[in-house]
Amino acid sequence: MSESDVSVTPVAAVVIMAAGAGTRMKSATPKVLHKVAGASMISLAVDAADALSPQRLVVVVGHGREQVGAHLAEVAPHVVIAVQERQLGTGDAVRAGLASLSGLSGEVVVTSGDVPLLAGETLAELLAVHRHEANAVTVLTARVPDPTGYGRIVREADQVARIVEQADAAEDELRLDEINSGIYVFDSTALTAGIASLTSGNAQGEFYLTDVITHARSTGGRVGGWLLADYLQTEGVNDRIQLSERNVEANRRILRKWMIEGVTVLDPATTWVHAGVDLAADVTLLPGTSLEGATSVAAGATIGPDTTLIDVEVGENATVTRTHAELAVIGAGATVGPFSYLRPGTELGAGGKIGAFVETKKAVIGAGSKVPHLAYCGDAIIGAGVNIGAGTIFANYDGVTKSTTIVGDNSFVGSDSVLVAPVEIAPGAYVAAGSTITSSVGPGELAVARGQQRNIKGWVARKRPGSKTEASAREALEQGAGVQEDDK
Ligand code: UD1
Ligand code: CA
Repeated sequence: MSESDVSVTPVAAVVIMAAGAGTRMKSATPKVLHKVAGASMISLAVDAADALSPQRLVVVVGHGREQVGAHLAEVAPHVVIAVQERQLGTGDAVRAGLASLSGLSGEVVVTSGDVPLLAGETLAELLAVHRHEANAVTVLTARVPDPTGYGRIVREADQVARIVEQADAAEDELRLDEINSGIYVFDSTALTAGIASLTSGNAQGEFYLTDVITHARSTGGRVGGWLLADYLQTEGVNDRIQLSERNVEANRRILRKWMIEGVTVLDPATTWVHAGVDLAADVTLLPGTSLEGATSVAAGATIGPDTTLIDVEVGENATVTRTHAELAVIGAGATVGPFSYLRPGTELGAGGKIGAFVETKKAVIGAGSKVPHLAYCGDAIIGAGVNIGAGTIFANYDGVTKSTTIVGDNSFVGSDSVLVAPVEIAPGAYVAAGSTITSSVGPGELAVARGQQRNIKGWVARKRPGSKTEASAREALEQGAGVQEDDK
């Protein structure tokens, strides 16, 4: 059966179990809200489930339900939230999930909120196997290097006879290395009947969802086990070590995908790319680069080393070196860095430059304009072809309100100027170096706003007699230096 058949007949429901405490995370944040590749684990589980286009998608919450519920309302409003009041086991979790669904018929897929690498395609394949084999239950299984802690798959001919939990397993069963991933497709009738039959008479005193398999078999249903070779997809997260391992693996998979698409990644070990990032062919990522959120990078651009971009759009052939940027747009062919800090609302035009030790915020900088050194540009609208001299400060804040500074096309702001907002420099104007500009400058004007320079002759000889400075002054004067134009 192909995936198109799956889309013809959608499953009745997917139930994602996410009520567990996640005690070993030792966190104030519920486990499923911890992130892998920049997305919460619960949102990744929802994404995988969405690949099946289920008629209904239920997330069972318990511990930290307010936080998980609020997060889902924001990122996945189509999800139905079911509450499991007490965590009595996986069977009870699914019972709580089904309680919110009436008139169920067809298939129910069950997954967990803490299995972040599970792909939607894997669920689609599992469903196809389930339909092809006409199973009552199909279990996704895997062979893992260390099966400790997992439920073991006990096979009988070409079926799964039962699943035995670590705590309940006999010695020979503990040696079985095919494990239960905790991901299943159930026929809804077999599931409902099986859940109703559960008891907690086991080593952990829990209602085991896995006991539904025994019930299905005893009532003549077929139970299949589909072994997934890519076992890493089935691995969960119980502590911070596993969280880091899943992040490393998710990142490795994302980088591989981009490398296949034509992106150069010099050092995959120190390059991090979130799942929501979009890269074009011939992008180069240098070591220490982290691309987060909805960042996109166009063809030919080079990012890094040591650069973090969060929700940033980078144009073709741009270069971004040793930079931290958030919610910014960097135009085609522009250069940023080294050591630049682009805050939200920065838009650098094509061919523009933001250089070393420059901070920008809500700054729209036109094509070909340059802010090359040591500047603060906040609440600025800068035209095209402008040069902002070294050390220029856009004084946008008077302690109460923020105001905007406008600098027109092809104007030139000399070094160490302060532009006190609100103020407007017209197109084609000059600001002399060291000026403090408090009123607007017209087209073609030169604004000079600084103290007039006075040179007081003989001051050193009078005030610092006998100093090394005085000695040098005397020597220079004897050699005829310091004779000004107007002294002649
Ligand atoms: C379960 C399976 C085991 C399998 C393993 C895979 C059972 C009895 N055992 O183990 O065979 O190898 O998953 O990880 O099903 N949860 C709830 N409510 C509860 C209990 C759990 O929502 O009352 C959720 C957890 O948040 C988690 C998932 O169910 O997302 C699995 O729970 P966990 O305790 O990790 O699995 P086990 O029961 O140990
Ligand atoms: Ca458990």
